[in-house]
Amino acid sequence: MPDDRYTHGHEEPVLRSHSWRTAANSAGYLLAHLRSGMSLLDVGCGPGSITRDLARAVAPGRVVGMDRDAGVIGIANAEIAADAVPAVPDAVPTVADAAPTSTPTAPLTFEVADVYDLPYDDGEFDVVHAHQVLQHLSDPVAALIEMSRVTRPGGLVAVRDSDYAAIAWYPPSLGLDTWRRVYRTVARANGAEPDAGRHLLAWAHAAGFADVTPSSSTWCFATPSDREWWGNLWADRTAETAFGRQAIDLGLTSQARLEVVAEAWRNWAADEDGWIVIVHGEILIRVPERPFRGGIAPSAKWWSQRGELLAGVGAGGPTPGSAPGHSNPVGGQRDEVNG
Ligand SMILES: C[S@@+](CC[C@H](N)C(=O)[O-])C[C@H]1O[C@@H](n2cnc3c(N)ncnc32)[C@H](O)[C@@H]1O
Repeated sequence: MPDDRYTHGHEEPVLRSHSWRTAANSAGYLLAHLRSGMSLLDVGCGPGSITRDLARAVAPGRVVGMDRDAGVIGIANAEIAADAVPAVPDAVPTVADAAPTSTPTAPLTFEVADVYDLPYDDGEFDVVHAHQVLQHLSDPVAALIEMSRVTRPGGLVAVRDSDYAAIAWYPPSLGLDTWRRVYRTVARANGAEPDAGRHLLAWAHAAGFADVTPSSSTWCFATPSDREWWGNLWADRTAETAFGRQAIDLGLTSQARLEVVAEAWRNWAADEDGWIVIVHGEILIRVPERPFRGGIAPSAKWWSQRGELLAGVGAGGPTPGSAPGHSNPVGGQRDEVNG
């Protein structure tokens, strides 16, 4: 199982950014597909602001938010203790007991787990969602296969990731150019793909899925208050968090140069003409019904061979980020099962 390094870490400026997110501004492409009573897993949920909104959308359905980082799961749990959304759980787990639990009666729980090895049964959820998670993984195709394993046949896997190369801003800024170049280099040094948005459809095809609906959406920051928030956020994230320290460790820059980049963000925020758009790619994967027809148990006939599928992806098959039009490991397996 890959032991990926999460480029951003979970320091205050990062959490300030993540906690701003809502289902409306970050999961709009999914909302129309949600129904009351659905069960939903939010992979890499961070502090859980999107998760809480999704829980409202499917209430009284069971919702689980999970993340590899125990500290951020503690923060998410503290938020539901204050919020009690969407209904009062029997017991709100604390970070001490945040390890994967089997408390399906609680409408919203947050748990520590890894997307590469989810502690859930085959087909346990109607919907499995991940926002800005695959862009941080060294094997996003394996993550998609594992996410689909815990999705019921006919259910949805929903993924949205940003695309750093596609971020556009005005006015031109050498400091922001440096920021983008340094960020993309650090992310790639961690084995991740900072331009994930444009890769999602290819990754879904590489994982063997045929029923994939691609889309895109953006965040735009251009009013004085939005600019102030976003610009100061990235000034702090550049100069004060894990991403900047990794850039220094890699020999890409120095603290003094990061301070110059942070100042460029503040200057952009103060410019009355300042404008920025953050481009995101999105995919909705409909998990196939076909392997489960005729009483074929998924764990016995299909998903039990997931390891071989993953080995196929890693060995002869496509690499993450490669173009579609290659071998289709899950598709091939499907034919064998039904053949
Ligand atoms: C950019 S944050 C997104 C958080 C949240 N989804 C949001 O959009 O606000 C990415 C999250 O993925 C988590 N993550 C990274 N690798 C993971 C893995 N292998 N399994 C589970 N979570 C992971 C990180 O800890 C981090 O909280």
